[in-house]
Amino acid sequence: MSDKVEKDEITGTDTTGHEWDGIKELDNPMPRWWLWTMYASIVWAIGYWIVMPAWPLVTSYTSGFIGYSSRGSLEQELAEASQAHAADRATLLTMEFSAVKNNDQVYQFAIRGGKSAFAVNCSQCHGSGAQGSPGFPNLNDDDWLWGGNLDAIYETIKYGIRSDHDDTRIGDMPAFLTDELLTKEQINDVAEYVLSLSEERKDMAAVDRGLEVYMENCASCHGDKAKGNRDFGAPNLTDAIWFYGKDKDIILRTISRGRANVMPAWTGRLDDTTIRQLALYVHSLGGGE
Ligand code: HEC
Ligand code: HEC
Repeated sequence: MSDKVEKDEITGTDTTGHEWDGIKELDNPMPRWWLWTMYASIVWAIGYWIVMPAWPLVTSYTSGFIGYSSRGSLEQELAEASQAHAADRATLLTMEFSAVKNNDQVYQFAIRGGKSAFAVNCSQCHGSGAQGSPGFPNLNDDDWLWGGNLDAIYETIKYGIRSDHDDTRIGDMPAFLTDELLTKEQINDVAEYVLSLSEERKDMAAVDRGLEVYMENCASCHGDKAKGNRDFGAPNLTDAIWFYGKDKDIILRTISRGRANVMPAWTGRLDDTTIRQLALYVHSLGGGE
């Protein structure tokens, strides 16, 4: 490389003086269009700094001539939306639950709001389609632990189940082995009996013994016919819908060690409009009574 600037004979342009293996570089000026685009960008940037929020300062930022902020515009949109629904909200809060279905506008408002509140607050436990999973009930079917009419669903959501709220729903499945209420054999028998209610079993002697154990220890909560009891949230044991799972091992575990799943109380975290929207939404999922 040499730094000797000379004139190129063919084009009459100066070279830059750089040379690689005899190849020299012409010192052409920047294209006009390129330069003007760059000047225009600089002018645009200065204009932008003046008009829009731009430079960070120590505790704030330059807010710009028009004072725009994306948070502010979102707040305004939210305020407008909430004003547009103020009437629906007020009606929903005062109307009898049973009457809401007959008011199409308020009902649609409730279902839409309930659906989005469900996605945010409930789907992590109940599943995005409310289909549930072991220990978390399916809310689409008509098998209800605590009741499937609007008032019952509303109460469940508001106060929770075994939650920390004073008005929570309560009722525990005892731990029959841990608390030495039954022996392992008795628990096996009663599990056979429970299973016999929804499917055929081979060991009918165990089923018969299990019926006796059942009547003495379980009927007070699950009912004489094992159809469940909503006052304690005791599941129906005769259908093929299992809350914790249908395998014998799982049923043995439930009876031996007990169960007490928790559903949080939502009053205090969600406002009453949202809780009502959720009750109407859950009720609409297919299994509402
Ligand atoms: C932390 C997990 C959790 C979250 C979050 C949760 N739930 Fe639950 N939910 C449960 C559990 C567990 C049960 C069953 C409790 C039991 O054992 O009876 C339940 C039961 C229910 C029931 C009663 C079902 C029946 O058969 O009676 C309804 C209704 C319900 N949830 C609605 C909701 C709604 C609506 C939300 C959102 C606001 C929600 N849940 C959020 C865990 C959760
Ligand atoms: C004090 C009331 C009470 C008594 C007594 C009781 N249970 Fe329960 N049982 C419950 C409750 C409440 C649940 C639901 C637990 C939960 O929601 O976490 C339950 C759940 C179950 C389940 C789980 C059902 C499913 O769908 O997964 C089985 C099985 C069961 N009980 C069997 C029995 C048997 C067998 C006995 C007698 C040896 C018995 N229970 C006695 C209240 C009771």
